[in-house]
Amino acid sequence: MAKGIKRIAVFTSGGDAPGMNAAIRAVVRAATYHNLHVYGIQRGYDGMIHGQIARLETSDVGNIIHRGGTILKTARSKEFMTVEGRRLAYESLVANDIDGCVAIGGNGTFTGAKIFSEEYDIPMIGIPGTIDNDLYGTDFTIGFDTAINTAMEAADKIRDTADSHNRLFFVEVMGRHAGYIALHSAIGCGASGMIIPEVNFTIESLVKTLKQGAKRKKPFGLIIVAEGNPLGGATEIAKKVQAKFDYYDTKVAIIGHLQRGGSPTCSDRVLATRLGHGSVEALLDGQNNVMIGLINNKIVYTTFADAIEKGKPIDEDVIKMANILAL
Ligand code: F6P
Repeated sequence: MAKGIKRIAVFTSGGDAPGMNAAIRAVVRAATYHNLHVYGIQRGYDGMIHGQIARLETSDVGNIIHRGGTILKTARSKEFMTVEGRRLAYESLVANDIDGCVAIGGNGTFTGAKIFSEEYDIPMIGIPGTIDNDLYGTDFTIGFDTAINTAMEAADKIRDTADSHNRLFFVEVMGRHAGYIALHSAIGCGASGMIIPEVNFTIESLVKTLKQGAKRKKPFGLIIVAEGNPLGGATEIAKKVQAKFDYYDTKVAIIGHLQRGGSPTCSDRVLATRLGHGSVEALLDGQNNVMIGLINNKIVYTTFADAIEKGKPIDEDVIKMANILAL
């Protein structure tokens, strides 16, 4: 067991994700069980820099497991990316006698955590909290399951109106540079196709597929577009397709930040709870500079460097299957 861990701080950073509150709750309650004092940092690294640190008791995290967003608020801190910002952050942790930190966030959060861990000696454990599911070292990130269900439900509703009007819809989902949200929501809603960054698409190949569907008198089309794909956003793609293929009236729906909110699914709450609890055990075990994740239902640790740099390729067989079934 690591000596001297008595006071820990927890914060959320980057884009919020449903389930972050469940993770905060688990950190606070697990730490309290181990007789540690827990502090919550408001607004991620920005709050760390500016000393927005306050004690969190077990009762402060009651009635939050089901709530989207984050009670600690979040930010994408530009200041923490500077040497001076990180120095101020360190001083503020020292001023509050913090012996270890739990950072809940995604790529940007762990990039900051990696640099900070290389410069300063306060142990840091990362919990993967992002709807994008784009981190190496965990099968799923907190928030992904809720986001794909939100995207799927939205696409289901669009399907009704698409069918009624015999229209072709391009539905744009989030995911930054990764196609996980698009792939899973496309499979879940039985979309006619998907455009994801991991696969090379051309407008021509897309039009060819749509023509095949039209030949079979397919009444409507539903294409899920990952925001990060190189062909452009749904609006741009829809315009290009409509210019070459006008069998359907073409429409666009961008789901946007709806995917970031809402009550977390049970899977996200369980994942967040296991990782939150595990992060405290990790600090007590002397872990540092690692992200905690679940692979094949087992807790694993991955260095921040690997978590952000190694990438998590989408299984080719799943892509192939989605394409076969969409025809
Ligand atoms: O990383 C989560 C995410 O929702 C991405 O899917 C999206 O590209 C981005 O954040 C949007 O960020 P913001 O809320 O800052 O516009």
